[in-house]
Amino acid sequence: MTTTPCQNPGLYQAILARRSVRRYARDPLGADILEQVGAIVAGAKPLLPDNDFAVLTRDVAPGEDLAADLGAYGRLVTPPHYLLPYGTGEEHVWTDLGYRVEQVAVRLTELGIGTCYVGCLAREEAVRARFGLPETAHIGAFLVFGYPATSVGGRAVNSAIRRVVGAVNKLPPERIFFQGSFEYPALPDDEIAPLIEAARAAPSADNAQPWRFLWLEGMLYLFVRRHNRRYGPEHHQAYRYYDGGICMGNLSLALEALGRAGHWTMLDGEDPLLPDCPPDLEPLAKLALA
Ligand SMILES: Cc1cc2nc3c(=O)[nH]c(=O)nc-3n(C[C@H](O)[C@H](O)[C@H](O)COP(=O)(O)O)c2cc1C
Repeated sequence: MTTTPCQNPGLYQAILARRSVRRYARDPLGADILEQVGAIVAGAKPLLPDNDFAVLTRDVAPGEDLAADLGAYGRLVTPPHYLLPYGTGEEHVWTDLGYRVEQVAVRLTELGIGTCYVGCLAREEAVRARFGLPETAHIGAFLVFGYPATSVGGRAVNSAIRRVVGAVNKLPPERIFFQGSFEYPALPDDEIAPLIEAARAAPSADNAQPWRFLWLEGMLYLFVRRHNRRYGPEHHQAYRYYDGGICMGNLSLALEALGRAGHWTMLDGEDPLLPDCPPDLEPLAKLALA
């Protein structure tokens, strides 16, 4: 438990409370709420402002088979709406997408709206063609949304699927956090514990949780594991960049909620301060805390 004062407890709680929702109430959201969703999408902050970001919003007709649009998982989720966020740019586009879309997911949680990412990394080309997106568009995942099903059956489905994908098993801080060097798995101290809690709560494809952290001289380094068994085949392994961005999104939202400042720098290779890191970890970014 953290005792750090929070300037926006509602936002911080939403980061921790967000869960993937697969069964939704049938009714679509009202026009006023959809307007708020639009404002939330428009307000998502970029990780790299040079990347372009756009979002299509789609309503789902009752009984519509979503498999053609969302892939096989479209049959398992029954949302009234979904977003198709996509990005174009030269650098870290999947990470930037994860960063922006997670802001949307958490802010929808604040409104009591449920969400679930539906990954499409392996079928990006088909999605681009189906939705008429530019050839350079990166997508990574859809975000389905709506009010969670309140029926006993709907709640049971939601929690059963979470158990199947292992989502109730988020890695403990001492498995993902290191202090000073990779020889020392540690428990984060009070200054960064609430940030690591927010990072741990992040969703990831197949709950792979690729993120690892090194706290070194006032800087929080974020790594992603190069190979994650849960992602499956090689062409799914790039989910680590998207999920890394989601984790960064949670950290930035936590900073906002806690009233603290921080600045991300992407790591494209070496960092002079970085000690030798295990070969299975890829440096993704570092967060300087004010
Ligand atoms: C990029 C990405 C793709 C995902 N794809 C799917 C999917 O296709 N179907 C699904 O049911 N859940 C999907 N999820 C949800 C994850 O299974 C879920 O986030 C993870 O198990 C953690 O659970 P939580 O979100 O409830 O914390 C995806 C999540 C992410 C971040």
